[in-house]
Amino acid sequence: MKFSFLQKLGATLLIVVWVVWGSITVGNLLIPTEEPEVPAALKLVKTSPAPSAPAPSAPAPSAPATGTGGPSGDGTVLALLASADAGDGKKIFRKCKACHTADKGGAHKVGPNLWDVVGRAKAGAAGYRFSRVLAGLGGAWTFADLDAFLARPKTFAPGTKMTFRGVKKAADRAAVLLYLRSLSDSPKPLP
Ligand code: HEC
Repeated sequence: MKFSFLQKLGATLLIVVWVVWGSITVGNLLIPTEEPEVPAALKLVKTSPAPSAPAPSAPAPSAPATGTGGPSGDGTVLALLASADAGDGKKIFRKCKACHTADKGGAHKVGPNLWDVVGRAKAGAAGYRFSRVLAGLGGAWTFADLDAFLARPKTFAPGTKMTFRGVKKAADRAAVLLYLRSLSDSPKPLP
């Protein structure tokens, strides 16, 4: 059988695309497993959802980190979480999509990928260069801290490079928080 030049070229291109796609896929599968600590611990908690098992990593860092909080983190939003709708949050998240991806293993854009951000160490997205301000916050992203940050990024973290005005309405933030929480294989327990 004889193949024309074009057929050979076509086949070569197919193989190249296939190999590149394959390595990206494998790469994406590998990346999340690079930080097994927090997810693994939280998964243990998730599999035994009894209230008797408090998340070991969540409560400890939350309290001291809110110092710069300002207008929010006062619990209003936490109370709204129960009645908020992650579907609404997904719609509001369209604003965030200019800078953030939300899928597992998604690329970093202007801002870091937000898969599994709830409960993750602040500035903890692997492979993204955070501002010194965000990297210096310390602790994990609790619902309260995410609320305060999203209400007014520049107040919660003065000098952050997230040039976003914030989500003004508490109900909208609650919905976004629920949506962020859903971006996980094992969503964190609600506060
Ligand atoms: C104009 C671009 C832009 C928009 C719009 C934006 N962000 Fe960001 N976001 C960033 C950047 C840049 C950072 C990194 C900040 C830093 O390092 O100081 C960031 C950081 C974050 C972080 C911290 C991530 C981590 O791993 O610590 C969260 C959470 C976050 N953004 C959520 C949101 C949400 C939710 C929205 C929409 C309501 C949003 N952002 C809208 C650019 C943006």
